[in-house]
Amino acid sequence: MNLTVNGVSREVGSAPLTTLLDVLREELGVTSAKAGCEQGGCGSCTVLVDGEPQRACLTAVGAFDGAEVTTVEGIGTADALSPIQQAFTHHYAAQCGFCTGGMLMAAVAYIERGGTDDREAIQEALAGHVCRCTGYVKIIDAVAAAARGDSFDLSTTASSAGMTNLGGVS
Ligand code: FES
Ligand code: FES
Repeated sequence: MNLTVNGVSREVGSAPLTTLLDVLREELGVTSAKAGCEQGGCGSCTVLVDGEPQRACLTAVGAFDGAEVTTVEGIGTADALSPIQQAFTHHYAAQCGFCTGGMLMAAVAYIERGGTDDREAIQEALAGHVCRCTGYVKIIDAVAAAARGDSFDLSTTASSAGMTNLGGVS
């Protein structure tokens, strides 16, 4: 079967019942989606499939033949952060970074749907995404800022970017 992952066509040899998360991480080496609960309850594995957020730990890859999958690696790099990554950096919305890949992809989907900086709407869009570190306030601040189209001077706030999942690493 075939997936288009971050714009690149990839042949997949894993068995059809292998989870999309395992295919991304173990076969294709795309590691920004994290294995947290592996039961659908934490959101750390969230990626976009044909533009919609999906829990990659719950989904058998065989259901997605021909689909387009987008992960953090597809939205920006450590040297060229996307607007939502810049917002997370500026607002210190990532600490350990384990939840961050899933949060970012849910936020991307929310903003692409026309989501605004309404905090309740953002909370709803991120429902089910668990963060053990930040207390969520800074994450909501970051998504609201990105939804508004704020711009940032990261020269004073980017020092944490290399330590987190913002660039899709680790
Ligand atoms: S690892 Fe998929 S929801 Fe927790
Ligand atoms: S930043 Fe550590 S779990 Fe969210």
